[in-house]
Amino acid sequence: MNARPLPEIAIDPLLKRDIEAVASAFASTEEAEAVALADDIARPLRGDQRWAAFQAGVFEKMSECGYVVVRGLEADEGRSLLIVSAALEARFDTYRPGRIVKRFRMSPWTDELSHTTRAGDFHTDGNVSVTPPVATAMQCEHEDPGAPEYAEQRVAFFPDVLGRLLSGGSDEAAAVAFLTGSDTVMAHERSAEVWRGRLVESGTIRYHPHSLRVAEARLGVAVANLEAILAAVHRAAMAVSVPFQTAAGDTVLVSNRTALHYRGACSVRFTRFPSEFEARSLFVLHLKERTA
Ligand SMILES: [Fe+2]
Repeated sequence: MNARPLPEIAIDPLLKRDIEAVASAFASTEEAEAVALADDIARPLRGDQRWAAFQAGVFEKMSECGYVVVRGLEADEGRSLLIVSAALEARFDTYRPGRIVKRFRMSPWTDELSHTTRAGDFHTDGNVSVTPPVATAMQCEHEDPGAPEYAEQRVAFFPDVLGRLLSGGSDEAAAVAFLTGSDTVMAHERSAEVWRGRLVESGTIRYHPHSLRVAEARLGVAVANLEAILAAVHRAAMAVSVPFQTAAGDTVLVSNRTALHYRGACSVRFTRFPSEFEARSLFVLHLKERTA
């Protein structure tokens, strides 16, 4: 199949005003995070017709495409990101007690996947955890200085990727067998954590080429034709996805169970080499399943 059009929602200006009113009542991101963990941060908006329409649009696009790009919010250190993410009706994940929103700034001086300027792979987040997040929410703080040539983003809906692989050749068939029919291992670069199991199970996917390669190198788990399989998945994901850019405030909500996300190479503009430069930065948070 061909790529679907970009699922995007331009935030209603009056809803934006209401979101800003809720966001600006918090003195800090930490205060907004405390409310997001203890209560419903979007409570003041519940019952509002514009919020209900926005939330219905988010649900529709998430179920049809696995993601949605929300245009026109303010980059406010993660407060509006927390509020908008509450539309997904999940719980906020913490990376340390009380903290939800991470800030990443791209750098030419690191190899860390979350902020290297090098192009990434299509992947899911938290792929070696017992229970990966249900969704990832990312809000652009500063656009890449080299946009639109740099920092291309894409999200590939996994059912579309699978459909594409099923109509391909032998590498694609090997990829389908690998993803859906074999047990494998993924390992984390910076921890001893290892996950074993099937990448696609019960309609959900967990996947990261880097974690598969780390497991192969560290544990000596040889997968026949791993690189050819990863290349086939990449080709299929590129074919079924569309490139997009985000400006400051734009927010991407992505299912971490039904979609793979990707960003291309980023650039920096040096203002004083080597330490001072303009670069893309973003706020990121994860959501986990609501427990009964
Ligand atoms: Fe990611």
